[in-house]
Amino acid sequence: MSGKSKTILIRNGHIWNASDDFIGDIFVNDGKIAAIGNNLKEHFQVEEIIDADGLYVFPGGVDPHTHLDLPFMGTFSADDFETGTLAGLYGGTTSIVDLALQSRGSSLSDCISHWHEKADGKAVGDYAFHCGITDFPEEVKKEFPDVVKEGITSFKVFMAYKGVLMIDDRLLLGVMEEARKYGAVITVHAENGDMVDAMVAKYKKEKRLTPEYHALAHPASAEAEAAGRVMDLAFHTGAVVYLVHTSCREALKKAQQNYQRNQRVFVETCPQYLLLDDSVYKKPGFEGAKYVMSPPIRTKQDQEALWAGLQSGNVQTIGTDYCPFNFVGQKDMGKEDFTKIPNGAPGIEHRLELLFSEGVLKNRITLNRLVEVLCTNPAAIFGLSTKGSLMVGKDADIVLFNPDETHTISSSTHHHNVDNSIYEGWSVTGKVKTVLSNGKVVIREGKADEISKGQGRYLRRKPYNFAY
Ligand code: URP
Ligand code: ZN
Ligand code: ZN
Repeated sequence: MSGKSKTILIRNGHIWNASDDFIGDIFVNDGKIAAIGNNLKEHFQVEEIIDADGLYVFPGGVDPHTHLDLPFMGTFSADDFETGTLAGLYGGTTSIVDLALQSRGSSLSDCISHWHEKADGKAVGDYAFHCGITDFPEEVKKEFPDVVKEGITSFKVFMAYKGVLMIDDRLLLGVMEEARKYGAVITVHAENGDMVDAMVAKYKKEKRLTPEYHALAHPASAEAEAAGRVMDLAFHTGAVVYLVHTSCREALKKAQQNYQRNQRVFVETCPQYLLLDDSVYKKPGFEGAKYVMSPPIRTKQDQEALWAGLQSGNVQTIGTDYCPFNFVGQKDMGKEDFTKIPNGAPGIEHRLELLFSEGVLKNRITLNRLVEVLCTNPAAIFGLSTKGSLMVGKDADIVLFNPDETHTISSSTHHHNVDNSIYEGWSVTGKVKTVLSNGKVVIREGKADEISKGQGRYLRRKPYNFAY
């Protein structure tokens, strides 16, 4: 973004942070929150006033888990950095942490340059990267300090997708030991890849190839086993570990046990695991393919456990695992064989609205806690020190939200660059109205405002600093 943006006063909104709420004004100057208080107009030179009377005012959302323009399962996720971050802005997400994935045999510096090529000059919201490790020879190990210096302070590993992304425990231990030296967090896709592989082989042999067999091939026990194992490896190495897309109560239980030994473990879940249940795989025809993701959608009992974990503090973040694929042309590559259905689903735009409607209004989680898991915790865990709360000095990423407005989610109106929605027809209460990113209005009354391609900033993150 070039030039100094105008000063803005957001007046008389109901301001929500993780630990408090109050009615007040926010004064924005030069991209930052410059003051918070009452009657601020009397004290500052204001160029624009935004009336927030009757609206909630939240920090810009931080989505710690996205996959934009990801090469995966013979295709690419359908949103690139421009369309994906734009959909995020519509939904009140102003920062993302996307996965920059190392190709086997390549260096991390190549991987990071490649992800910068995808994002720089395109993203309209702010972005950072996790560095995904699929291969760990000596040369790659030596790159770790440079990666951290680049502001990439988390490494991602996969315990599943055998033969493609999965690394074994020995490599995982090496990655952990190295990451720990530099204050980097290990984010983990925890599923036992061998178990899944064996189940897949069995169903293929039996010619059970419809989407529901994807879910059956990824049992909760495979997730819980890997979650328990990776936490033990992390305990041994002293690494900080973050379990992505936790979907079931068995895995959550393992994390709860680990808290007793005061281990630094963080647990992320996603809206789809809180809101959908495994009946989606019984939908007629090939519809179930829209819900093919790993881990799969679980049971209603798992949902209850995840909500309880969120409210009690045992689950610290909600990421979207945003990985959209078109139903026509991508998901249908697996029409005859579920193993060819690209894994993943859209949703970056609806994280806040869905969680407000289904979580806060249904009394499953408080609004302070929602702000904490969508904004404050992801920023704190991943070293985004200028993001995550409405405080003087932070970047002016601000969301104005109407808690009473209802609307219906549909792929015909969403801003994801994809032809389907796993929330098609869901009626939600609460709507993102106006969004500021770095002090500029980017969404005004639900419509894109002063957005220019490439205005999103690359965010250099700080190392994790509580445990090392
Ligand atoms: O099915 C999923 N989750 N797709 C995205 C890649 C991953 O495993 O996070
Ligand atoms: Zn994953
Ligand atoms: Zn993911």
